[in-house]
Amino acid sequence: MAGIAIDVAVAAPRSRIAAFFGSTVGRKMVMAVTGVFLVLFVIGHMIGNLQVYLGPESLNHYAELLRELGHGGLIWVFRGTMLGAVALHVWAATALTLGSWAARPTGYRRRQQYVESTYASRTMRWGGPLLLIFIIYHLLHLTTGQAHGSFVVGDVYHNVVAGFSVWWVSGFYILAQLALGLHLYHGVWSMLQTLGLSHASYNRLRTVIALLIALVIAIGNISIPVAVLAGFVS
Ligand code: HEM
Repeated sequence: MAGIAIDVAVAAPRSRIAAFFGSTVGRKMVMAVTGVFLVLFVIGHMIGNLQVYLGPESLNHYAELLRELGHGGLIWVFRGTMLGAVALHVWAATALTLGSWAARPTGYRRRQQYVESTYASRTMRWGGPLLLIFIIYHLLHLTTGQAHGSFVVGDVYHNVVAGFSVWWVSGFYILAQLALGLHLYHGVWSMLQTLGLSHASYNRLRTVIALLIALVIAIGNISIPVAVLAGFVS
């Protein structure tokens, strides 16, 4: 008897965690909580990037400050947290998508459901992978420099201006920011619903918040390659 009691006590919390991560609600919660981290990151990152308009000293000084926070240790804590958030976000999205495909009804109901799913929610399925490709390219382009024609370590301003002077690079960034805008619109909307703002009376508020965040981020980020191509930042 004692042996059984111990087994149950040890197994219960473990199976509760497994049940949470295995459930649709649990996976949506993982998406929402990691989504909060990622949204805060893109807002902060955009505000930092806009310092390009203040000139080379401002942007380079800001980038150096971030790199040296906590004697250079904090940036790695931050990178580890962000990597974990992205990994969990992608895992939960994949699990939810595969789950919904497995449960997909056929025939008339299937067509009805497809029509009912919004344009934005369908764009999440191609927008998410496109953003993942963008992030990998972006890190090789502006952080490590392997995908940059004239990368200079520590000269972030030069790397941004020289990088965006190539029209197709700017084109890819602009496309990725449009995908990010759509992703943020639907993502923030769902995130607020999952985190409790779920009553129908909040629908309008959720739409306004999601639209505002998506527009501000997309316009702010897109303005940078456009300003470089237009010769406004050089
Ligand atoms: C036009 C838009 C963007 C510009 C101009 C830009 C610029 C930059 C620059 C210059 C760096 C290197 C900073 C340094 O080495 O100190 C960087 C790093 C990074 N960017 Fe962006 N970025 C943009 C959009 C984005 C977006 C949309 C995301 C994510 C969805 C993103 C994610 C990252 C990440 C994860 C890093 C690495 C941060 C680290 O050092 O750990 N960026 N970005």
